Amino acid sequence: MHCRYLCAKQYIINAMKIYPLLLSLLCSSAMCAETLHLSTPSTSLVLDATPGNRLSLLHYGGRVTDADIKNLDGGIDAYPAYGIYPEHEAALSITHADGGMVTDLSVDSVTKSQGDDGAEITTITLRDSAYPVTVKVNYRTYPGEEIIESWAEITNGEKGEITLNRFMSAFLPVRMGDVWLSSLYGSWANEARIEQRPLTHGVTMIKNKDGVRNSHTSHAEVMLSLDGCPSENNGRVIGAALEYTGNYKLMIDTGDSNHHRFFAGINEENSAYRLKKGETFVTPPLALTYSAEGLSGASRNFHRWGRNHRLHAGDTPRKILLNSWEGVYFNIDEKGMDSMMADIASMGGELFVMDDGWFGTKYHRDSDNAALGDWTVDTGKLPHGIDGLLDAADRHGIKFGIWIEPEMTNTVSELYEKHPEYVIKAPHRNPTTGRGGTQLVLDMANPKVQDIVFEFVDTLMTRYPRIDYIKWDANAPIMEHGSQYLPADRQSHLYIDWHKGLTATLDRIRRAHPDVTIQACASGGGRANWGMLPWFDEFWTSDNNDALQRIYMQWGTSYFFPAIAMASHISAAPNHQTFRRIPVKFRADVAMSGRMGLELQPRDMTEEERTICRNAVNDYKQVRHIVQLGDLYRLLSPYDGKGSASLMYITPEKDDAVFFWWKTETFMNQQLPRIPMAGLDPDATYTVTELNRIDNTPLPCEGKSYTGRYLMDQGLELPLTHNVDYHKNTDYSSRVLRLTVSK
Ligand code: GLA
Repeated sequence: MHCRYLCAKQYIINAMKIYPLLLSLLCSSAMCAETLHLSTPSTSLVLDATPGNRLSLLHYGGRVTDADIKNLDGGIDAYPAYGIYPEHEAALSITHADGGMVTDLSVDSVTKSQGDDGAEITTITLRDSAYPVTVKVNYRTYPGEEIIESWAEITNGEKGEITLNRFMSAFLPVRMGDVWLSSLYGSWANEARIEQRPLTHGVTMIKNKDGVRNSHTSHAEVMLSLDGCPSENNGRVIGAALEYTGNYKLMIDTGDSNHHRFFAGINEENSAYRLKKGETFVTPPLALTYSAEGLSGASRNFHRWGRNHRLHAGDTPRKILLNSWEGVYFNIDEKGMDSMMADIASMGGELFVMDDGWFGTKYHRDSDNAALGDWTVDTGKLPHGIDGLLDAADRHGIKFGIWIEPEMTNTVSELYEKHPEYVIKAPHRNPTTGRGGTQLVLDMANPKVQDIVFEFVDTLMTRYPRIDYIKWDANAPIMEHGSQYLPADRQSHLYIDWHKGLTATLDRIRRAHPDVTIQACASGGGRANWGMLPWFDEFWTSDNNDALQRIYMQWGTSYFFPAIAMASHISAAPNHQTFRRIPVKFRADVAMSGRMGLELQPRDMTEEERTICRNAVNDYKQVRHIVQLGDLYRLLSPYDGKGSASLMYITPEKDDAVFFWWKTETFMNQQLPRIPMAGLDPDATYTVTELNRIDNTPLPCEGKSYTGRYLMDQGLELPLTHNVDYHKNTDYSSRVLRLTVSK
């Protein structure tokens, strides 16, 4: 039944007298309320959804009461469409079947439904009085979570085709004041760097056009600090994360109104999308959060929701692994793999992952210029095949994982020889190649390509069910605009249909193989986004394993993503990317703050390095649940230039915590700040134990107990160097402390 007909006030009053039960039933499916209050435990989003009017946003922020709601005014169009007052940026722009450019939407009805995981979805259906176009604006809340997701569904009811010129997921007006934007920028091997700036007049645009991966450079997530210069643990913050893994656009338009106008969605550039009559376009969701506990508070909201509802197997602690890449690169062979398995097992590790270089029959994967797509074992390197490796892993008492790059091929491959029509390629031109001078991207918009990708992964997992882990790589962008599958009038759908094809294939893979752990790697950190993680257990944070630079990259990554998803490996010294020599203690202390693993040739380690790694693996096992499933409190940012950085994780019960401190620069007699902790129970008493200890004597705080109140007020005094034998001194210093509530 249409809400419009139910909403006459007289009708409601009579109905309430006569049919209270009937009314409540009707109102739960087709709500009558004009004001919608969507809430989380401590936030509210309030909309005026009066039928016949524009949908307008009255409030997004801290939780409000009914009394407050009654007095809210000054609503702003919650999903502005292009056409009337065209000088303003819009969330939606349509060329109608008759060429008309104006869309003017008003509320038609409101419905509520149950989503997965106990989520509640509120859908406001908007219609245009001149054109039969329907826009559903959706908001999703989850019990106990501080996230509200918003997305749009646009349906063409016109006789002919319409073209979507812009199709943002959501729009949010943010009241001007002293609002600061925190965003992530970067590049390959330097991902997730933080940039913070006050919002000023004009347009701030953050976007991506890679086509395949979207987080090497800027990220599709931002934080807005509403009370001036961003602070980790104080002040009001709005966080926004677009749940999309393709081209995106985040735009903040600050003009002559009182509001910064924030838009987020798929990047519409070169992606105009045509809808036939009856077709619907669904945008990816934008996840919004609000916290009055600073940036760290907003991060905790994303982490908790992500682990509970978005990340694949987000509640299951991850294994400690050794990955073969930086240890042997393409030089895979059976003996070498066996020895690496023995080494990681002897250090207490739980999983070995064989990286690139294991496949190819006609063409061999000896470097990056051949064989992608030819997923047959190179028996010259691995005479006993994958079964031989799985048997070896069993013998060593660990699990086995394998590297693949299924969305790609090389010009030098049997796949390309047989199916040149499967690759991305513009008409009348030779395909543009990437890595190794031969890499090509498969056209995931083509259902036949989706099938071969599915069948490859499905066959691998069906034939070798003991495979525990897949490292799924993606090492090329879309290098030219051209689908050999899409018709001429749908070429502009390439970027979007490519990702629809990818996610549909991932759906099939996950339905068939829900238990295998899959890492989203993309030349390092190219796929750290909430659009990818429902099918993946983690992402490779960066191809740069330099522990010092990782502190900065992991700090940025932690704004939006939990430690359980952030792969962080101890690599060799000198480091293969920066050539910096960092002692293994410091490398381990950085890796331990994420999903710890190793990425080196254990045979090249000294006995002392092995011992430190073995101890680190053992210590990490004791606190893994705190790091991976606990709440993050960032304490001192490396970006503040104070010579050190610090953060901590704590269990939700606040009975067990791990505190990390790393010195980021070294000068003689430097004076570094003492770090007040956060997130502890002020009234509980915590006992301190140092992990990964290398010092000859214990820290003064070792074994001592302090109240949470004291630790949060004063922190602990930490020496700036390690107390080790003279020749073992280095310019690096770091501490990992466990704080356990005395029972
Ligand atoms: C990418 C990944 C690396 C490694 C190589 C293999 O660069 O990010 O970790 O797997 O591919 O070719």
